[in-house]
Amino acid sequence: MDNASEKKKVMLSGIQPSGDLHLGNYLGAVKNWAELPDQFDCYYFMADLHTITVRQEPKELRRRSTTQLAQYIACGLDPEKNTLFLQSHVHEHAELGWILNCYTMFGELSRMTQFKDKSAKHADNINGGLFTYPALMAADILLYQADYVPVGEDQKQHCELTRNIAIRFNNLYGETFKVPEPYIPKVGARIMSLSNPASKMSKSDPQGCVFLMDSPEELARKFKRAVTDSDTERCVRFDPENKPGVANLMNIYSSVTGKSYSEIEAEFDGKGYGVFKPQVGEAVIESLRPIREEAEHIIADKAYLQEVYTQGAQKASAVARRTLRKVYKKIGLVEKPF
Ligand code: TYM
Repeated sequence: MDNASEKKKVMLSGIQPSGDLHLGNYLGAVKNWAELPDQFDCYYFMADLHTITVRQEPKELRRRSTTQLAQYIACGLDPEKNTLFLQSHVHEHAELGWILNCYTMFGELSRMTQFKDKSAKHADNINGGLFTYPALMAADILLYQADYVPVGEDQKQHCELTRNIAIRFNNLYGETFKVPEPYIPKVGARIMSLSNPASKMSKSDPQGCVFLMDSPEELARKFKRAVTDSDTERCVRFDPENKPGVANLMNIYSSVTGKSYSEIEAEFDGKGYGVFKPQVGEAVIESLRPIREEAEHIIADKAYLQEVYTQGAQKASAVARRTLRKVYKKIGLVEKPF
Protein backbone atom coordinates (compact mmCIF):
# COMPACT_ATOMS: atom_id res chain seq x y z
CA MET A 1 0.00 0.00 0.00
CA ASP A 2 1.44 3.42 -0.93
CA ASN A 3 1.41 6.50 1.30
CA ALA A 4 -1.47 8.18 -0.51
CA SER A 5 -3.82 5.22 -0.10
CA GLU A 6 -2.74 4.74 3.51
CA LYS A 7 -4.20 8.18 4.28
CA LYS A 8 -7.59 7.39 2.78
CA LYS A 9 -10.54 7.36 5.17
CA VAL A 10 -12.02 3.91 5.63
CA MET A 11 -15.69 3.08 4.85
CA LEU A 12 -17.12 -0.25 5.93
CA SER A 13 -20.53 -1.85 5.92
CA GLY A 14 -22.32 -5.17 5.60
CA ILE A 15 -25.71 -6.72 4.94
CA GLN A 16 -27.02 -10.03 6.24
CA PRO A 17 -27.76 -12.53 3.46
CA SER A 18 -30.90 -13.49 5.37
CA GLY A 19 -33.08 -12.73 2.34
CA ASP A 20 -32.76 -11.23 -1.11
CA LEU A 21 -31.77 -7.56 -1.17
CA HIS A 22 -34.69 -5.14 -1.03
CA LEU A 23 -35.30 -1.47 -1.76
CA GLY A 24 -34.60 -0.51 1.89
CA ASN A 25 -31.16 -2.16 1.74
CA TYR A 26 -30.52 -0.44 -1.57
CA LEU A 27 -31.69 3.11 -0.76
CA GLY A 28 -30.59 3.03 2.88
CA ALA A 29 -27.19 1.49 2.24
CA VAL A 30 -25.81 0.05 -1.02
CA LYS A 31 -26.75 2.98 -3.28
CA ASN A 32 -24.75 5.29 -1.03
CA TRP A 33 -21.79 2.91 -0.90
CA ALA A 34 -21.59 3.00 -4.68
CA GLU A 35 -21.85 6.79 -4.79
CA LEU A 36 -19.03 7.30 -2.34
CA PRO A 37 -16.09 9.01 -3.91
CA ASP A 38 -12.90 7.27 -4.90
CA GLN A 39 -10.88 8.77 -2.09
CA PHE A 40 -12.21 6.22 0.45
CA ASP A 41 -10.79 2.82 1.18
CA CYS A 42 -13.99 0.72 1.08
CA TYR A 43 -14.85 -2.66 2.63
CA TYR A 44 -18.25 -4.26 2.04
CA PHE A 45 -19.17 -7.74 3.11
CA MET A 46 -21.96 -10.30 3.39
CA ALA A 47 -22.65 -10.63 7.13
CA ASP A 48 -23.23 -14.39 6.95
CA LEU A 49 -22.12 -15.07 10.55
CA HIS A 50 -24.74 -12.61 11.75
CA THR A 51 -27.38 -14.37 9.68
CA ILE A 52 -27.14 -17.64 11.59
CA THR A 53 -28.45 -15.96 14.74
CA VAL A 54 -31.79 -16.90 13.13
CA ARG A 55 -32.24 -20.43 11.71
CA GLN A 56 -31.41 -20.63 8.01
CA GLU A 57 -31.86 -23.26 5.36
CA PRO A 58 -28.15 -24.04 4.56
CA LYS A 59 -28.55 -24.33 0.80
CA GLU A 60 -30.46 -21.05 0.60
CA LEU A 61 -27.95 -19.23 2.80
CA ARG A 62 -25.14 -20.35 0.48
CA ARG A 63 -27.08 -19.23 -2.60
CA ARG A 64 -28.02 -15.86 -1.15
CA SER A 65 -24.47 -15.10 0.02
CA THR A 66 -23.09 -15.22 -3.51
CA THR A 67 -26.12 -13.69 -5.23
CA GLN A 68 -25.83 -10.81 -2.76
CA LEU A 69 -22.24 -10.32 -3.88
CA ALA A 70 -23.43 -10.27 -7.51
CA GLN A 71 -26.00 -7.64 -6.55
CA TYR A 72 -23.36 -5.50 -4.79
CA ILE A 73 -21.35 -5.50 -8.02
CA ALA A 74 -24.44 -4.81 -10.15
CA CYS A 75 -25.27 -1.84 -7.89
CA GLY A 76 -21.95 -0.30 -8.92
CA LEU A 77 -19.43 -1.64 -6.42
CA ASP A 78 -16.41 -2.29 -8.58
CA PRO A 79 -14.36 -5.17 -7.07
CA GLU A 80 -11.20 -3.42 -8.26
CA LYS A 81 -11.99 -0.37 -6.14
CA ASN A 82 -13.80 -1.97 -3.18
CA THR A 83 -12.87 -4.92 -0.99
CA LEU A 84 -15.85 -7.29 -1.24
CA PHE A 85 -15.87 -10.42 0.89
CA LEU A 86 -17.79 -12.94 2.98
CA GLN A 87 -17.52 -12.30 6.71
CA SER A 88 -17.02 -16.01 7.52
CA HIS A 89 -13.94 -16.14 5.24
CA VAL A 90 -12.07 -13.72 7.50
CA HIS A 91 -11.79 -15.58 10.80
CA GLU A 92 -10.55 -12.47 12.63
CA HIS A 93 -14.20 -11.30 12.82
CA ALA A 94 -15.19 -14.21 15.04
CA GLU A 95 -12.00 -13.89 17.09
CA LEU A 96 -12.29 -10.18 17.81
CA GLY A 97 -16.04 -10.68 18.29
CA TRP A 98 -15.34 -12.98 21.22
CA ILE A 99 -12.89 -10.55 22.77
CA LEU A 100 -15.27 -7.60 22.44
CA ASN A 101 -17.99 -9.66 24.10
CA CYS A 102 -15.86 -9.35 27.20
CA TYR A 103 -15.95 -5.54 26.92
CA THR A 104 -19.69 -5.23 26.26
CA MET A 105 -22.16 -5.02 29.11
CA PHE A 106 -25.27 -7.12 29.62
CA GLY A 107 -27.30 -3.93 30.16
CA GLU A 108 -26.08 -2.45 26.87
CA LEU A 109 -27.01 -5.58 24.92
CA SER A 110 -30.40 -5.78 26.63
CA ARG A 111 -31.31 -2.31 25.35
CA MET A 112 -30.78 -3.11 21.66
CA THR A 113 -33.97 -2.66 19.63
CA GLN A 114 -32.96 -5.27 17.04
CA PHE A 115 -32.53 -7.86 19.83
CA LYS A 116 -35.93 -7.01 21.29
CA ASP A 117 -37.63 -7.18 17.87
CA LYS A 118 -35.95 -10.39 16.81
CA SER A 119 -36.47 -12.17 20.10
CA ALA A 120 -40.16 -11.32 19.91
CA LYS A 121 -40.29 -12.64 16.33
CA HIS A 122 -38.30 -15.82 17.09
CA ALA A 123 -39.44 -16.59 20.63
CA ASP A 124 -38.52 -20.26 20.19
CA ASN A 125 -34.87 -19.48 19.44
CA ILE A 126 -33.54 -16.62 21.58
CA ASN A 127 -29.96 -17.82 21.39
CA GLY A 128 -26.74 -16.33 22.79
CA GLY A 129 -25.63 -15.19 19.33
CA LEU A 130 -28.76 -13.10 18.89
CA PHE A 131 -28.01 -11.36 22.18
CA THR A 132 -24.27 -10.76 21.61
CA TYR A 133 -24.74 -9.86 17.93
CA PRO A 134 -23.66 -6.19 18.47
CA ALA A 135 -20.23 -7.26 19.80
CA LEU A 136 -19.59 -9.13 16.54
CA MET A 137 -20.79 -6.11 14.60
CA ALA A 138 -18.38 -3.92 16.59
CA ALA A 139 -15.59 -6.36 15.66
CA ASP A 140 -16.56 -6.11 11.96
CA ILE A 141 -16.13 -2.37 12.09
CA LEU A 142 -13.18 -1.96 14.45
CA LEU A 143 -10.99 -4.58 12.73
CA TYR A 144 -10.65 -2.25 9.74
CA GLN A 145 -10.25 0.96 11.77
CA ALA A 146 -13.29 2.28 9.89
CA ASP A 147 -13.92 6.03 9.91
CA TYR A 148 -17.45 5.81 8.51
CA VAL A 149 -20.16 3.16 8.54
CA PRO A 150 -22.78 3.83 5.84
CA VAL A 151 -26.06 2.30 7.08
CA GLY A 152 -29.79 2.97 7.29
CA GLU A 153 -31.25 4.56 10.42
CA ASP A 154 -32.14 1.23 12.07
CA GLN A 155 -28.43 0.43 12.54
CA LYS A 156 -27.62 3.71 14.31
CA GLN A 157 -28.01 2.16 17.76
CA HIS A 158 -25.53 -0.63 16.93
CA CYS A 159 -23.07 1.94 15.59
CA GLU A 160 -23.36 3.95 18.79
CA LEU A 161 -22.66 0.84 20.87
CA THR A 162 -19.62 0.15 18.67
CA ARG A 163 -18.33 3.64 19.48
CA ASN A 164 -18.85 3.03 23.20
CA ILE A 165 -17.00 -0.30 23.05
CA ALA A 166 -14.10 1.31 21.15
CA ILE A 167 -13.87 4.19 23.63
CA ARG A 168 -14.01 1.80 26.60
CA PHE A 169 -11.24 -0.37 25.16
CA ASN A 170 -9.08 2.66 24.25
CA ASN A 171 -9.49 4.05 27.78
CA LEU A 172 -8.33 0.77 29.29
CA TYR A 173 -5.41 -0.01 26.99
CA GLY A 174 -4.51 3.20 25.14
CA GLU A 175 -5.35 4.16 21.56
CA THR A 176 -6.20 0.90 19.76
CA PHE A 177 -9.34 1.47 17.70
CA LYS A 178 -10.53 4.31 15.51
CA VAL A 179 -13.90 5.50 16.89
CA PRO A 180 -16.23 5.25 13.84
CA GLU A 181 -19.09 7.51 12.77
CA PRO A 182 -22.37 6.21 11.31
CA TYR A 183 -22.99 7.67 7.83
CA ILE A 184 -26.76 7.88 7.34
CA PRO A 185 -28.30 9.30 4.14
CA LYS A 186 -30.73 12.27 4.34
CA VAL A 187 -33.36 10.56 2.17
CA GLY A 188 -33.86 6.79 2.02
CA ALA A 189 -32.52 6.11 5.53
CA ARG A 190 -35.80 4.48 6.56
CA ILE A 191 -37.95 2.94 3.85
CA MET A 192 -41.28 1.68 5.15
CA SER A 193 -43.35 -1.31 4.04
CA LEU A 194 -45.64 -0.57 1.08
CA SER A 195 -48.44 -2.53 2.74
CA ASN A 196 -47.96 -1.13 6.24
CA PRO A 197 -46.23 2.26 6.37
CA ALA A 198 -45.93 1.99 10.18
CA SER A 199 -43.26 -0.71 9.96
CA LYS A 200 -39.94 -0.67 8.11
CA MET A 201 -39.60 -2.47 4.81
CA SER A 202 -38.24 -5.91 5.54
CA LYS A 203 -37.97 -9.28 3.84
CA SER A 204 -40.24 -10.83 6.47
CA ASP A 205 -43.20 -8.95 4.92
CA PRO A 206 -42.97 -9.94 1.20
CA GLN A 207 -46.14 -8.07 0.10
CA GLY A 208 -44.87 -4.72 1.33
CA CYS A 209 -41.28 -5.44 0.34
CA VAL A 210 -39.75 -4.49 -3.01
CA PHE A 211 -36.93 -6.85 -3.94
CA LEU A 212 -34.16 -5.75 -6.30
CA MET A 213 -34.74 -8.86 -8.39
CA ASP A 214 -38.54 -8.43 -8.69
CA SER A 215 -39.76 -8.34 -12.31
CA PRO A 216 -41.09 -4.99 -13.65
CA GLU A 217 -44.62 -6.46 -13.62
CA GLU A 218 -44.28 -7.46 -9.98
CA LEU A 219 -42.91 -4.02 -9.08
CA ALA A 220 -45.75 -2.24 -10.89
CA ARG A 221 -48.27 -4.41 -9.04
CA LYS A 222 -46.72 -3.72 -5.63
CA PHE A 223 -46.67 0.06 -6.16
CA LYS A 224 -50.20 0.15 -7.53
CA ARG A 225 -51.37 -1.58 -4.33
CA ALA A 226 -49.25 0.55 -1.98
CA VAL A 227 -51.20 1.79 1.03
CA THR A 228 -51.72 5.57 1.03
CA ASP A 229 -54.51 7.04 3.14
CA SER A 230 -58.23 7.72 3.09
CA ASP A 231 -57.71 11.47 2.89
CA THR A 232 -60.54 12.76 0.65
CA GLU A 233 -58.41 15.44 -1.02
CA ARG A 234 -55.97 12.64 -2.12
CA CYS A 235 -53.21 15.17 -2.52
CA VAL A 236 -49.50 14.40 -2.66
CA ARG A 237 -48.08 16.31 0.30
CA PHE A 238 -45.14 15.44 2.57
CA ASP A 239 -46.74 14.92 5.97
CA PRO A 240 -45.21 11.81 7.62
CA GLU A 241 -47.43 12.05 10.69
CA ASN A 242 -50.82 12.24 8.97
CA LYS A 243 -49.93 10.71 5.59
CA PRO A 244 -47.20 8.13 6.31
CA GLY A 245 -47.88 6.03 3.20
CA VAL A 246 -47.61 9.03 0.89
CA ALA A 247 -44.51 10.31 2.73
CA ASN A 248 -42.87 6.90 2.26
CA LEU A 249 -43.62 6.91 -1.47
CA MET A 250 -42.27 10.47 -1.72
CA ASN A 251 -39.12 9.38 0.11
CA ILE A 252 -38.67 6.52 -2.37
CA TYR A 253 -39.38 8.77 -5.37
CA SER A 254 -36.99 11.42 -4.08
CA SER A 255 -34.24 8.83 -3.51
CA VAL A 256 -34.45 7.38 -7.02
CA THR A 257 -34.99 10.64 -8.95
CA GLY A 258 -33.05 13.13 -6.81
CA LYS A 259 -36.11 15.44 -6.77
CA SER A 260 -36.89 17.42 -3.61
CA TYR A 261 -40.21 17.05 -1.76
CA SER A 262 -41.43 20.44 -2.97
CA GLU A 263 -40.60 19.52 -6.58
CA ILE A 264 -42.56 16.28 -6.14
CA GLU A 265 -45.54 18.13 -4.64
CA ALA A 266 -45.52 20.52 -7.61
CA GLU A 267 -45.21 17.64 -10.11
CA PHE A 268 -48.33 15.89 -8.75
CA ASP A 269 -50.32 18.98 -7.86
CA GLY A 270 -54.00 18.18 -8.55
CA LYS A 271 -53.21 14.73 -9.95
CA GLY A 272 -54.15 12.39 -7.09
CA TYR A 273 -52.79 9.00 -6.02
CA GLY A 274 -53.98 7.20 -9.17
CA VAL A 275 -51.27 9.03 -11.12
CA PHE A 276 -48.71 9.29 -8.33
CA LYS A 277 -48.40 5.60 -7.32
CA PRO A 278 -47.78 4.15 -10.82
CA GLN A 279 -45.31 6.98 -11.50
CA VAL A 280 -43.28 6.10 -8.38
CA GLY A 281 -43.42 2.45 -9.50
CA GLU A 282 -42.18 3.42 -12.97
CA ALA A 283 -39.25 5.42 -11.55
CA VAL A 284 -38.26 2.47 -9.33
CA ILE A 285 -38.60 0.00 -12.23
CA GLU A 286 -36.30 2.12 -14.39
CA SER A 287 -33.70 2.58 -11.67
CA LEU A 288 -33.67 -1.14 -10.78
CA ARG A 289 -33.81 -2.50 -14.35
CA PRO A 290 -30.05 -2.19 -15.14
CA ILE A 291 -29.19 -3.59 -11.69
CA ARG A 292 -31.41 -6.64 -12.12
CA GLU A 293 -30.14 -7.35 -15.62
CA GLU A 294 -26.49 -6.96 -14.64
CA ALA A 295 -26.96 -9.09 -11.48
CA GLU A 296 -28.56 -11.92 -13.51
CA HIS A 297 -25.57 -11.86 -15.80
CA ILE A 298 -23.03 -11.94 -12.93
CA ILE A 299 -24.90 -14.65 -10.96
CA ALA A 300 -24.40 -16.97 -13.94
CA ASP A 301 -20.61 -16.54 -13.74
CA LYS A 302 -19.75 -18.57 -10.64
CA ALA A 303 -16.00 -18.64 -11.35
CA TYR A 304 -15.89 -14.83 -11.47
CA LEU A 305 -17.78 -14.52 -8.20
CA GLN A 306 -15.42 -16.97 -6.54
CA GLU A 307 -12.43 -14.99 -7.76
CA VAL A 308 -13.91 -11.76 -6.38
CA TYR A 309 -14.65 -13.15 -2.92
CA THR A 310 -11.32 -14.96 -2.70
CA GLN A 311 -9.33 -11.83 -3.46
CA GLY A 312 -11.59 -9.77 -1.22
CA ALA A 313 -11.06 -12.08 1.76
CA GLN A 314 -7.29 -12.08 1.23
CA LYS A 315 -7.16 -8.28 1.20
CA ALA A 316 -9.52 -7.95 4.16
CA SER A 317 -7.67 -10.56 6.17
CA ALA A 318 -4.33 -8.77 5.80
CA VAL A 319 -5.83 -5.65 7.38
CA ALA A 320 -7.87 -7.47 10.03
CA ARG A 321 -4.85 -9.51 11.12
CA ARG A 322 -2.90 -6.34 11.95
CA THR A 323 -5.62 -5.03 14.28
CA LEU A 324 -6.15 -8.38 15.95
CA ARG A 325 -2.43 -8.76 16.65
CA LYS A 326 -2.43 -5.33 18.28
CA VAL A 327 -5.43 -6.28 20.43
CA TYR A 328 -3.90 -9.61 21.54
CA LYS A 329 -0.81 -7.76 22.65
CA LYS A 330 -2.72 -5.05 24.51
CA ILE A 331 -4.85 -7.44 26.53
CA GLY A 332 -1.99 -9.74 27.50
CA LEU A 333 -2.25 -12.74 25.17
CA VAL A 334 1.09 -14.29 24.20
CA GLU A 335 2.03 -13.39 20.63
CA LYS A 336 1.44 -16.23 18.15
CA PRO A 337 4.86 -17.57 17.09
CA PHE A 338 3.68 -18.58 13.56
P1 TYM B 1 -29.41 -5.54 7.68
O1 TYM B 1 -28.85 -6.73 6.99
O2 TYM B 1 -30.68 -5.67 8.43
O3 TYM B 1 -29.59 -4.34 6.67
C1 TYM B 1 -28.56 -3.96 5.77
C2 TYM B 1 -28.56 -2.47 5.53
O4 TYM B 1 -29.80 -2.04 4.99
C3 TYM B 1 -30.35 -1.02 5.81
N1 TYM B 1 -31.81 -1.19 5.84
C4 TYM B 1 -32.68 -0.21 5.58
N2 TYM B 1 -32.50 1.08 5.24
C5 TYM B 1 -33.61 1.81 5.00
N3 TYM B 1 -34.87 1.32 5.11
C6 TYM B 1 -35.10 0.03 5.46
N4 TYM B 1 -36.33 -0.44 5.52
C7 TYM B 1 -33.97 -0.80 5.71
N5 TYM B 1 -33.82 -2.11 6.05
C8 TYM B 1 -32.50 -2.32 6.14
C9 TYM B 1 -29.74 -1.23 7.19
O5 TYM B 1 -29.75 -0.05 7.95
C10 TYM B 1 -28.35 -1.68 6.82
O6 TYM B 1 -27.51 -0.57 6.54
N6 TYM B 1 -26.41 -5.48 11.64
C11 TYM B 1 -26.50 -5.15 10.23
C12 TYM B 1 -25.50 -5.87 9.36
C13 TYM B 1 -24.08 -5.66 9.79
C14 TYM B 1 -23.32 -4.48 9.66
C15 TYM B 1 -22.03 -4.78 10.21
C16 TYM B 1 -23.58 -3.21 9.14
C17 TYM B 1 -23.31 -6.60 10.39
N7 TYM B 1 -22.06 -6.07 10.64
C18 TYM B 1 -21.01 -3.83 10.26
C19 TYM B 1 -22.55 -2.26 9.19
C20 TYM B 1 -21.29 -2.58 9.73
C21 TYM B 1 -27.92 -5.53 9.78
O7 TYM B 1 -28.57 -6.35 10.36
O8 TYM B 1 -28.28 -4.92 8.62
